[in-house]
Amino acid sequence: MVQKAERVAPVRAGNHSQGGAGGAGKSGKPIGNVTRGTTNPNRMRRLDRWLAGPQAWRLRRATDPLVIDLGYGASPATAVELFDRLSAVRADVRVAGIEIEPARVRAAKALERAGLSFHVGGFEIPVPGQPVIVRAFNVLRQYEEADVEAIWSLVRSRLSPDGLFIDGTCDEIGRRVTWVALDVGGPLSLSISMRFGGFVLPSEIAERLPKALIHRNVPGEKIHGFLQALDKAWLNAAPLAAFGNRQRWTAMCRSMLDGGWPVHDGPSRWRLGELTVGWDAVAPSP
Ligand SMILES: C[S@@+](CC[C@H](N)C(=O)[O-])C[C@H]1O[C@@H](n2cnc3c(N)ncnc32)[C@H](O)[C@@H]1O
Repeated sequence: MVQKAERVAPVRAGNHSQGGAGGAGKSGKPIGNVTRGTTNPNRMRRLDRWLAGPQAWRLRRATDPLVIDLGYGASPATAVELFDRLSAVRADVRVAGIEIEPARVRAAKALERAGLSFHVGGFEIPVPGQPVIVRAFNVLRQYEEADVEAIWSLVRSRLSPDGLFIDGTCDEIGRRVTWVALDVGGPLSLSISMRFGGFVLPSEIAERLPKALIHRNVPGEKIHGFLQALDKAWLNAAPLAAFGNRQRWTAMCRSMLDGGWPVHDGPSRWRLGELTVGWDAVAPSP
């Protein structure tokens, strides 16, 4: 069950200057509000392997290899995993876990080590430097849709020039995962990643869409058209099921690409049950 956060007043008021570069909101408090810290080890593995795969160039090229795990939850396990996974890409990576609930930061402090630290804070990201990656998983879904744009804009204002902000959502154990990737200029793409054998139709991912899209899966919205097209391509590829779901998913992705959808990445990602599409193809109507 998702516990809803309250509206985010400093963000709504466009009060970004107070929140930028490590500052807090007008009241001096972190921007955002505490919610239930539900988490599970390994549930962000599908996103992490995208960061350590097609997006690894960002971390490799970064002047300052600073990565933020924003809202890591009741246990810092997934922040530790992010550190371990990205250390394989760049040995001098620094991961800072940020939580708005101070007791969760106190509990995580015992796990600090060279390159891994934990801090109390919110969307203002109160650590010095410009992060190359900010991962916020299962955080924005607890806010109002009307606040998403302003939260995105605040976090984007903290990124390094090649920085990426991930606003993602997943089920309890990370078998159904989606994320929006944004850079300093705005949203770039939507990715979906599903465990083979765990769904009948790919549109079942709809229940795990990020906040910006979850209420938009209705006729007339682009995300609805995208999910309908995915289902059609999946059903058309049914004969390939005899060769395994990996072949079938790959055929679905190729058919989407051939049908003119701006599919990013390629077969090496498709075979993982992943598909990334350009944001313009799914963006909500204003
Ligand atoms: C549902 S948990 C998700 C934990 C973890 N990211 C995961 O997906 O497993 C959301 C966490 O985000 C924290 N949170 C909510 N808003 C926040 C904000 N603005 N800044 C930092 N943490 C925040 C909550 O206190 C909670 O611990």
